[in-house]
Amino acid sequence: MYEHHSTDLSVTWLGQTMPGCLYNASGVWCREESELEAVRQSAAAVISKSATLAPREGNPEPRYCQTPLGSINSMGLPNRGFAYYLDYARRYDYLCGKPLFLSLSGMTLEDNCEMLRVLSEQGLPAIPEVNLSCPNVPGKPQLGYDFAATAAALDAFDRAYSGLYGVKLPPYFDPAHFSAMADILNRHPRLAFVTCINSIGNGLVVDVESESVAIKPKDGLGGLGGDYVLPTALANVREFHRLLPGKEVVGCGGVKSGREAFMHILAGARAVQVGTCLYHEGPAAFARIAAELAQLMRDKGYRSLDDFRGKLRVL
Ligand code: DHB
Repeated sequence: MYEHHSTDLSVTWLGQTMPGCLYNASGVWCREESELEAVRQSAAAVISKSATLAPREGNPEPRYCQTPLGSINSMGLPNRGFAYYLDYARRYDYLCGKPLFLSLSGMTLEDNCEMLRVLSEQGLPAIPEVNLSCPNVPGKPQLGYDFAATAAALDAFDRAYSGLYGVKLPPYFDPAHFSAMADILNRHPRLAFVTCINSIGNGLVVDVESESVAIKPKDGLGGLGGDYVLPTALANVREFHRLLPGKEVVGCGGVKSGREAFMHILAGARAVQVGTCLYHEGPAAFARIAAELAQLMRDKGYRSLDDFRGKLRVL
C-alpha cells in the first residue's frame, strides 16, 4: 500500500558509484561539448561520440530516419576527432560523480591503439569504450563479426592501454557466436565491461508511398535502433551476463521507458544506455525514464537495482 522506503537507482562499478543507471548511447547527443555537458547535467554518466584520430564529416544526408518502430541511421562516424574529446576529458568535472566514457572507433587497429596509448599516458579517469561494431563506413566490416580479428585487436589493446576498458559489441544471433566471443573476451582481465548492443547493422527501411529507401548512404542500408532491437539487445545482455563472470554488461537497445530499463537490468545489465529515444526526446528522457523505473521498482517492492539485477526467471 503505502511504502515509504526510498528507491535507489545508483550503480557501483569500475571502482565508483554513479548517481543513477542511465546514460546516453554513444552517437546520440554527444558529438559537441554542449551536448556532452547537457547529458552530464541530466544523466548518470556520459559517453562521447565514437572518435577517429582525424575529424570526420560523415556520410551524406539524409543519414538518420525515425520510423514508427525506431530508427535507421548511417551516420558514417561524423565526429570532432580524438583530440577534441580528449581535451573535453582533460577539463571534465570528475568530481560530479558521473563517469566519463570515451568511445573510440579508429579507422584501423593502429589508430585505436594510438588513441589508447595517448589516453594511457594522460592518466585521466576517463574510461575507453572501444567500438568493435560500427556498421556504417562503406567497405569497413564490423570488427566484432570477425572473431580472429577481434582476438588480435584485444591483444593489441592490452598492450596499448594499462587501465580498465570496455568494448561495444554488435548484436549476435546464435549461441555458437555468443560462446565464441565470450571465450575471446574472457582472456582479457582488464576488459571490464561489454556494451550490448550496437545497432542491428544494415537493415533497410522502405517507404511505400515514395517507393524509396529512407536514407542516402549505402543505397539505404543502415543500423536499426529502437523497438526493432529490444529483444535482440536483451538476448545479448542476458547471454553475455551469463558467459562473462566478473565482467559487467551495459545494456543498450530499445529503452524508451522505465519498463525496458527494468528488462535490461533483469537480464543482467549494470547500467543502461539510451539511444533512439534520446535522439527523439532529448536529455529530458533521462529523468522521465528514471522516474518510471523507480515507480516500477516501488510497485514491486524493490529498493535497489541489486534486488533484481540478473534475476530474470526462466520457465
Ligand atoms: C556510427 C554508427 C555506429 O553504429 C557506430 O557504432 C559508430 C558510428 C556512425 O554511423 O557514425
